[in-house]
Amino acid sequence: MGCINSSHSFFFFFLTLITLSLTTSVAQADEASDLIKNTCEHAIYKEFCISDLQQSKGKIANIRDLANITLQHALSNATYIVDYVSKLANTTKDFNAQSCFVECSTNYEKAISLVQSSFSALDNKDFDNVNRWLTSAMFRAELCEKAFKGQSGVQFSEISDKAELFNHLCSNALAIADRMAGM
Ligand SMILES: *[C@@H]1O[C@H](CO)[C@@H](O)[C@H](O)[C@H]1NC(C)=O
Ligand SMILES: *[C@@H]1O[C@H](CO)[C@@H](O)[C@H](O)[C@H]1NC(C)=O
Ligand SMILES: *[C@@H]1O[C@H](CO)[C@@H](O)[C@H](O)[C@H]1NC(C)=O
Repeated sequence: MGCINSSHSFFFFFLTLITLSLTTSVAQADEASDLIKNTCEHAIYKEFCISDLQQSKGKIANIRDLANITLQHALSNATYIVDYVSKLANTTKDFNAQSCFVECSTNYEKAISLVQSSFSALDNKDFDNVNRWLTSAMFRAELCEKAFKGQSGVQFSEISDKAELFNHLCSNALAIADRMAGM
């Protein structure tokens, strides 16, 4: 009898633990959702800011995480573009086209290092430089597009969705950094 009783209370103990931890994670998810919504409120691409960050909700504890994740996404899109355009530059036999592709990928490489610098500026709460570097990164991305557009035969549209995401992600990160600056 004693055995059954103690296994019962054991069972209830675990049930309580499970319920507690479920409740905590639901509360955390709600907090993350609120944080995302409030922070994205002033972003130009508000809906995209929210939907992009909602996917990583489980990894979000504070506003710094929002900036982190947004910048990571910007980096992976930029890295894709550099790879894609470098391949084009390596395979074309047209010298003029090749120099345009090299110009484009060089600008994106610069954009990547500017985004990376903005990570450390965020660590130092140096929001002026976050702003400066992200704005420059977006400008570099534009220079790539200009170089690309001079080319017939190869379409910028092959990478335009990624380029647009990069621009919007940098813009979202700027909005998040602005919020952090105001805290
Ligand atoms: C991401 O944010 C955390 C703090 O929330 C920070 O410690 C970490 O260095 C950041 N990651 C990068 C890649 O900057
Ligand atoms: C580009 O960014 C979007 C939005 O964050 C993400 O879903 C997608 O996986 C990224 N693409 C690449 C190639 O990294
Ligand atoms: C393109 O060629 C350069 C120089 O040969 C090389 O370093 C680079 O890895 C190549 N890039 C790709 C994407 O093949």
